[in-house]
Amino acid sequence: MKNVAKALLGAVSMLAVTVAAPAMAEPKAEVLHYWTSGGEAKAVQALQEAFKARGGTWVDAPVAGGGGDAQAAVLRARVLAGDPPAAVQIKGPNIQEWAEAGALGDLNAVAEAQDWDKVLPETIQNIVKYDGQYVAVPVNVHRVDWIWANPEVLAKVGADVPKTWDEFNETAEKLKAAGIIPLAHGGQPWQDATVFETVVLGVGGIDFYQKALVDLDMEALGSDTMVKVFDQMRKMRGYVDPDFPGRDWNLATAMVMRGEAAMQIMGDWAKGEFAAAGLEPGKDYICASTPSDGGYLLNSDSFAMFNVSGDDNVEGQALLAELILGTDFQETFNLYKGSIPARTDVPRGEFDACAIKSMDDMVAAAEGGTLMGSMAHEIAQAGAIRGAFIDVVTAHFNSDMSSTEATEKLVKAIKLAM
Ligand code: GAL
Repeated sequence: MKNVAKALLGAVSMLAVTVAAPAMAEPKAEVLHYWTSGGEAKAVQALQEAFKARGGTWVDAPVAGGGGDAQAAVLRARVLAGDPPAAVQIKGPNIQEWAEAGALGDLNAVAEAQDWDKVLPETIQNIVKYDGQYVAVPVNVHRVDWIWANPEVLAKVGADVPKTWDEFNETAEKLKAAGIIPLAHGGQPWQDATVFETVVLGVGGIDFYQKALVDLDMEALGSDTMVKVFDQMRKMRGYVDPDFPGRDWNLATAMVMRGEAAMQIMGDWAKGEFAAAGLEPGKDYICASTPSDGGYLLNSDSFAMFNVSGDDNVEGQALLAELILGTDFQETFNLYKGSIPARTDVPRGEFDACAIKSMDDMVAAAEGGTLMGSMAHEIAQAGAIRGAFIDVVTAHFNSDMSSTEATEKLVKAIKLAM
């Protein structure tokens, strides 16, 4: 995979520094992130408050746009201009790329002090370590493969949350016949890709997901199974409302809240919206994993500390890293955000049934070998490869392209991107 970061940094050379707390500097941190929706904003606000409570000066640098593509463009431009922010919300292989390019400071001092090796699952350690060094601090685990449903709306057609894709289609047809929007969806490429990967997992199965979206096996990518996946995506195009193009994900979640639509397929950041609206799982809304034979699609947000000069910045980075993986903050943040803690020893008492299900399913999936990195959310793939998937998926979703043509285009696009 081409290292875009290295090419960018070629222009601006920087030395990797160890992030540790020098004496007497005023901790300060400019934080680049894309958390601007109701639940997201509450969660990042909690981090700001914790940082300020410890005497830190937080410089907020939000970039609106779910999924983070807009933020990634701002980051590249800032690095190219030799002005990287101190802390950046970042994920998956992107962390490795920036670390390989020498743009990140290591967090080993904080990691040793807080014993990260003991409290973080191996899957998460592998995401935030480069060459055995901690170069980012994980803040959560988000599950991607969820259905969020309005029980009252489903009851109008005598349906429960579907457990198979056939059931999903039957229920959606009944809802449509009753004049109800079956699927609340936001027409943005990353959202189309989010739905797509849950269909790959459910229609193709775990091994197929691994082969096609992780290993990039050309036979799997060009197979009849992939044609079936696009067939299902074509059906789902028929279950969204005409106003879906360009809609932000949280506005689709709000449609389910208000009973304007029956279901949304989205990661559990959607739960942060339900929580921010004071709604309760099992009563006002239902969470269920999308139909599959036991997979779990993992997404995890982290903060990487870019090489910036000045003791106040370095102290700010160390303080942020310490706060983010503190048990109290891990609880507070994830209750707002809809995700579960990255560290495994946070008490469960405050977490709801959806979070407990995510915690248990993640452990079972890790043990059973069915824990899959999300492609759409840059855990299994990033950069050009992820872009190739998203381009074909969204082109198919927003046209009358046949499933066979989409499958052929996918194989070509992935080959080109490799
Ligand atoms: C994901 C991110 C989540 C959530 C979502 C919507 O990529 O990891 O934390 O914010 O986008 O913006």
